[in-house]
Amino acid sequence: MTRPDIDLTDPDRFVAGEHHAMLAWLRENDPVHWHATGPDSGFWALTGYDEVSEVYLDHTDFSSESGPMLGGSFRSETDPAAGLMMVATDLPRHRMIRQQLHWAFSQDMLRKIAEQVTTLVDAAMDRALADGGCDFSTDVATELPAGAVMAITGVSHRDAHELIGMTRRMIGFRDPLFADPEEDDRLVLAMTQADIFEFFAEIIRDRRRNPGPDLVSHLLRAEMNGRPWTEDEILYNCLNIAVGGNETSSYTACSGVEALIAHPGEHARLRGTPALLDSAVNEILRWSSTNLYVRRGALRDVEISGRTIRAGDVVTLWNVSANRDAKQFADPDTFDLGRTPNRHLSYGVGLHRCIGAMLAQTELSILFRKFAEAPVTAALAGPVGRLRSNFINGITSLPISFQGHH
Ligand code: HEM
Repeated sequence: MTRPDIDLTDPDRFVAGEHHAMLAWLRENDPVHWHATGPDSGFWALTGYDEVSEVYLDHTDFSSESGPMLGGSFRSETDPAAGLMMVATDLPRHRMIRQQLHWAFSQDMLRKIAEQVTTLVDAAMDRALADGGCDFSTDVATELPAGAVMAITGVSHRDAHELIGMTRRMIGFRDPLFADPEEDDRLVLAMTQADIFEFFAEIIRDRRRNPGPDLVSHLLRAEMNGRPWTEDEILYNCLNIAVGGNETSSYTACSGVEALIAHPGEHARLRGTPALLDSAVNEILRWSSTNLYVRRGALRDVEISGRTIRAGDVVTLWNVSANRDAKQFADPDTFDLGRTPNRHLSYGVGLHRCIGAMLAQTELSILFRKFAEAPVTAALAGPVGRLRSNFINGITSLPISFQGHH
């Protein structure tokens, strides 16, 4: 393979689908790659399954406190959320935060979420089937996080969608669909984050007076190191759960539907074999790799696969590439709903492994069961709109039509 022109920072290369070739070349030839962004700036891009796993599991040499995403300067600048928001916090605080947030992912909560998501997905899919089609991204997929947000925070369907609108804008801060390209990226991000904080601050004000069976009420009662949580800690972690869950689950649903349309044989296989549902959901997660990479910062010099990463360097772990590594997956470029084993890294691994993984499996299983049970075939009915991002693999528009067949 000739070396493609490599730039993992340009969102347009991702919209064009060119990242698969760039990452395949790196995985094969330079799995611990120094990705320069200037004469003395850049970051490491790790693309092999083993290299990516190694860093995920090394909590002593690598820190999460520079935040999950590459910033403008690519230096290990400190994230204001460091030490406050779970995903950007190292041990020992990380453990204390995670223990309290587990409340929102308990078996009881999962049951409540499953019920809510089933109601919403059934209604949205029945409407789409009756209409003979829909824009799956906006009409159906967002009902997955809507059900979870309603159950976890106790807000109405309308408010849940208001929040999802804001998290879509936050994740889409470099996409003209969500943000004016004339505006400064970082300003859009900061303003959207402030709106989301205001949304949760209002819930906090209400729950102080009227506590209920919801996460904010729980955190208002919770303690950290023998003292109550601060308002900032509550806000940042509500933000973490909202941004961590809303777009990941709904965009993964879209990627799954797109893949089933592109592989009608697999769609038919799922329709005929309901027992494939679990492995199908995992293959959709691997295939989509919705969270394309995560970021770490090296705390000391570490050697990985013969390259020396220096203390202070920024490191990116490319889930989307690890998930296509032939050393780990047989025929990695084949979409196989029966794939077992399937140890994909779409949820990460180690201490920060997605706390919402079971929740996401539940939501996606409800959706794809419903999708597979529908006695129809699906086809694309227009151009697919892709999120302009190198961080989240998103489909912002997915027009589909259904054809009945009995
Ligand atoms: C398909 C769906 C999802 C994908 C692909 C996904 C992906 C990920 C990944 C890769 C991480 C690891 C980040 C790191 O190591 O730095 C993570 C962590 C996290 N996810 Fe998810 N996620 C999904 C669904 C959800 C849902 C539904 C929620 C909540 C409702 C959620 C909330 C979180 C949170 C709070 C963390 C931080 C965990 C920690 O730092 O300990 N995610 N997710």
